Amino acid sequence: MADRPVTVHIDPAFRIAPVSRRTFGSFVEHMGRCVYGGLYEPDHPSADAVGLRRDVLDLVREQGVTVVRYPGGNFVSGYHWEDGVGPRDQRPTRLDPAWHSVETNAFGLDEFMTWAQAAGIEPMLAVNLGTRGPREALDLLEYANHPGGTRLSDLRRSHGRETPYGIRMWCLGNEMDGPWQLGHQTAHEYGRRAAETARAMRMIDPTLELVACGSSGPDMPTFAAWEATVLEHTYDQVDFVSAHLYHEERDGDLASLLASSVGMDQFIDDIVATCDHVRARTRSSKRINISFDEWNVWYMRDFLATGVPTEWVQAPPLSEDDYTVADAVVVGSSLITLLRHSDRVTVACQAQLVNTIAAIRAEPGGPAWRQTIFYPFALTARYARGTVLRVECTSAPTTDTARYGDVPLLDVVATYDDDADELVVFAVHRGQREPATIDMDLRAFPGYRLAEQVVLHDPDPYARNTSAEPDRVRPQTVAGAAVDQGRLALALPPVSWTMLRLTRVDVTA
Ligand code: AHR
Repeated sequence: MADRPVTVHIDPAFRIAPVSRRTFGSFVEHMGRCVYGGLYEPDHPSADAVGLRRDVLDLVREQGVTVVRYPGGNFVSGYHWEDGVGPRDQRPTRLDPAWHSVETNAFGLDEFMTWAQAAGIEPMLAVNLGTRGPREALDLLEYANHPGGTRLSDLRRSHGRETPYGIRMWCLGNEMDGPWQLGHQTAHEYGRRAAETARAMRMIDPTLELVACGSSGPDMPTFAAWEATVLEHTYDQVDFVSAHLYHEERDGDLASLLASSVGMDQFIDDIVATCDHVRARTRSSKRINISFDEWNVWYMRDFLATGVPTEWVQAPPLSEDDYTVADAVVVGSSLITLLRHSDRVTVACQAQLVNTIAAIRAEPGGPAWRQTIFYPFALTARYARGTVLRVECTSAPTTDTARYGDVPLLDVVATYDDDADELVVFAVHRGQREPATIDMDLRAFPGYRLAEQVVLHDPDPYARNTSAEPDRVRPQTVAGAAVDQGRLALALPPVSWTMLRLTRVDVTA
């Protein structure tokens, strides 16, 4: 494949949609050491007065996270939010059945909102529709968002939070299609409960943005039928349906892992088709978008093989996956997929943020550091601005994979910020052997030159960062070629993620 260049056509007219800043969301769940020992560790040398780790906060800001979903996940389906507010010495310690852990409730909504403000992120709150219903969701909404003069808003004020939080985005439960979920329901049962909860919440605030639970993944036997039924019940009451998907290497099949975003593309297309089918059936003029509020590489098979601890302990380390360069390429290509669907996927949350299935690792009492997957996320979040552009590749080679059949070796998307005169191209090369040579057709961008080329690659696709060597894998800035008569020639190494930043040369300077 190395001898035939792939022609990559980019044109400002190939517009998909504006870049949604909410694409760069993450997820904090009371699971393992994500909260305790991740966001919150009062004895840590970097902890502030509340107990929040400042070193972790710095990395979250550097990662460019914009939205954080909280407090679960499976955890939320058994959670009583009231346990996590008020004086800490009066908060109850409870069993968390979802992760077979002991929950001290030392960290709850008020601590999360303090953390969210320090991190500069938008909160996205999930309500418990597993073991609870509309009444408790309304109570939480009153506590969080009502200015004052009612029992629960005054309770918040008595906890020192005078100003209401003004939380706009709310998830109506979590993965209610999954038999593992506390309070698991059929699509009809959940659709009714979600619709009634949404209607009640909107009687308090019609401007809330609400997310109905979609499927836990495309392999669920109920996938698509679940979305259709839930949306038949909730169409007028919600704005989004959720999607969850985790990628992992199975049985040493690296080619299929590297092609994971092909499955993600298909999943999104199928959900969009289902939403639009319900729109047609309900004769609605409204469009339901996707909140892709859990996605990442997760070595879930390892997790299921080990299982949750048999003892009841507080914040046991769970799913602290060590990510490879190949995993980082998968994260980069997942972001390319999400950007390419910006017309319908307007919220996305990588799961999770710290320690558990996460880009950031925080050592107990020690430093916090960046996993390989941190980098494509941080760079895409920082540089994807303006409008997403569809990119057309001609003479593009393909490769056969066991899981997805024949897939393109390259995956490319671009964003174009015409105010800043900046074009950014994000590309992955999924091939494992030879570099891919590219001939980029930039004739529709006269005067643009390559300002920066950053590559994440290692000769060993399984290279990873560790606490002993946290900077083993980092993105490298490489000397880029010159744009010559609107063409840019370059080579992408195998198993790599690349970002090209092009800016318009100021001819008056
Ligand atoms: O992110 C880990 C778990 O994965 C979440 O709790 C659940 O929603 C999903 O199955």
